[in-house]
Amino acid sequence: MRIDIELTDADQQHALRADARAGLTAEAKWLPPKWFYDKYGSELFERITTLPEYYPTRAERAALAAHATDIATVTGARTLVELGSGSSEKTRLLLDALHQRGHLDRFVPLDVSESALRDAATALDRDYPGLTVHGIVGDFTRHLDRIPTSADRLVAFLGGTIGNLVPTERAAFLAALRAVLRPGEWLLLGTDLVKDPATLVAAYDDAQGVTAEFNRNVLHVLNRQLGGDFDPAAFRHVAHWDVEREWIEMRLLAERDMTVHLADLDLVVPFAAGEQLRTEVSAKFRRPGVTAELAAAGFELTHWWTDPADRFAISLARSR
Ligand code: AVJ
Repeated sequence: MRIDIELTDADQQHALRADARAGLTAEAKWLPPKWFYDKYGSELFERITTLPEYYPTRAERAALAAHATDIATVTGARTLVELGSGSSEKTRLLLDALHQRGHLDRFVPLDVSESALRDAATALDRDYPGLTVHGIVGDFTRHLDRIPTSADRLVAFLGGTIGNLVPTERAAFLAALRAVLRPGEWLLLGTDLVKDPATLVAAYDDAQGVTAEFNRNVLHVLNRQLGGDFDPAAFRHVAHWDVEREWIEMRLLAERDMTVHLADLDLVVPFAAGEQLRTEVSAKFRRPGVTAELAAAGFELTHWWTDPADRFAISLARSR
């Protein structure tokens, strides 16, 4: 087993500082969703995936379980690359199917979290004798060129994480991915689908308040990492369905006037009562849009599979 570190704690700290300064001094304040995922935030996300309202994880697992054998047969992949692999839990469905088909020899998980990557890589290395595990600690928007150029690759980007990117970022990401693949290599993409707004909003505003806690956790991250004095309890969790852009926006609404200080940035951030800080975009998709975005980046969609309730899709696309 091998783990390459392409992203150090110092790089991460530098990126957080730049993002916080840009987002909190903007006219409409925002923060990128990647900063939710410290240790506690990752635990909260794992809890979210088990909530009754949060259907995407279960729906994607159902689609993958039903079609893993198809994926193995169609792609014949020898290398499975997983972007934003996290706990690599759904990956086992793919590894099992590829292993049974008999060609699998390498697994390449890429994640920003070194601890999550190490845990997942160690468990898979133990459970799949004969599989070479080559982890990469990196950011899928920056380190695609570090993916090893081994034979017959299938790149999995699951969980609907592509929905955290806005359309221009998605186009750049897909083009960069296409650029590191050879013609005939494969992308397996998980996308949550457009559905009735009540179901969508409930998935991002659960009754137990776990998602609200997850949302506010980004303020704790800023307090700890940047010497901030946010009062997270003074921010209300908002999940808003943007019907035009077809995405969920998570926001934190300031319940009163506040002045927040980020000592390490020498930054003073005023909030007016009612002001909203955007913390996440989670785009929802339709088949024609996914097909077009893939085509624009040089991928041909060959298969589209959904869960039985058509809530979530996994697309298989071939690089041209
Ligand atoms: C892991 C990015 C796919 O957008 O649904 C869950 C994160 N945010 N609840 C999503 C999330 C709020 C999740 N992704």
